[in-house]
Amino acid sequence: MPDDKKITPPPAPTLNPDLGEQHDVGDIHAALQREKPDPEEGFEPINLWLVALTGGLLFWGGYYLANFSGRFEANEYSEIPRGQAVAAAPAETPEQKTLRLGAQLYNNCAACHLADGTGNPALNIPPLAGSDWVLADGPDRLTRIVLHGLNGPIKVNGQVWQGNAMNPWKKTAENPSGLADEEIAAVLSYIRNAWGNKASFVTVDQVRAVNEATKDRTEPWTEAELLAVPVSGGAAPAGGAPLDLAGLKGELQKLPPEELKKLLEAIQAK
Ligand code: HEC
Repeated sequence: MPDDKKITPPPAPTLNPDLGEQHDVGDIHAALQREKPDPEEGFEPINLWLVALTGGLLFWGGYYLANFSGRFEANEYSEIPRGQAVAAAPAETPEQKTLRLGAQLYNNCAACHLADGTGNPALNIPPLAGSDWVLADGPDRLTRIVLHGLNGPIKVNGQVWQGNAMNPWKKTAENPSGLADEEIAAVLSYIRNAWGNKASFVTVDQVRAVNEATKDRTEPWTEAELLAVPVSGGAAPAGGAPLDLAGLKGELQKLPPEELKKLLEAIQAK
């Protein structure tokens, strides 16, 4: 074979290994291209059979609990027997209702007499807590004070207060934001039973009777005028109305005999 037929390879490029120069870039890339990236953990595709199996198990579990849990319920250990409605809160008694209303209405008075009923000596406003006027046996003077107001000196528990006046609270055309008879009854019942006070409730009828008896009154009361009024039953003229004997006899005759007998016994027992 003649020498000149020999294919001579191109001269090898001079390489500088210090510069990281290598033989054949193509060779090196080919090796890289053949390789797959390293598998990463956690990114494997999920087996669909496993998904189906898990779903099926969950469904079966729910079905099983719903049907074979012995009627266990979330309120199993509740003290209220199953199926029984929660007992309604005990209804408010009429007294509680009156006191609640009265406490609300007392906001009108608290500006002067203060929330705790102690009054305000700096402004010459007497106390309601423990006051002998508030705790009087009957509400007739008290009702007058609230209906028409109070003026001039007044002795409360032995101490004289003067220099300030209390405004009227009667509801009238000129004073539409005043208090109606029911409201006065409630607020008086409240002040007679708040802050340690203890006295009988004031009924709407009692307030109405005083309101009737004083319907022409426009001026505020003075202490002397109030002291002239009996603390209770003062709505009727002194001595009371004469007994309507004929009417009474008629009423008594309407009663069945047993009732009449009971009534007589009750009167004799007194
Ligand atoms: C503007 C302030 C003011 C308001 C509001 C007010 N009072 Fe008075 N009250 C007075 C003054 C002042 C006196 C004393 C009047 C006097 O010295 O003649 C008084 C006296 C009284 C008295 C008799 C004295 C005593 O201490 O027991 C009673 C009872 C009373 N007030 C109840 C009430 C009630 C109930 C209300 C709310 C409906 C009320 N007051 C709202 C200022 C007020």
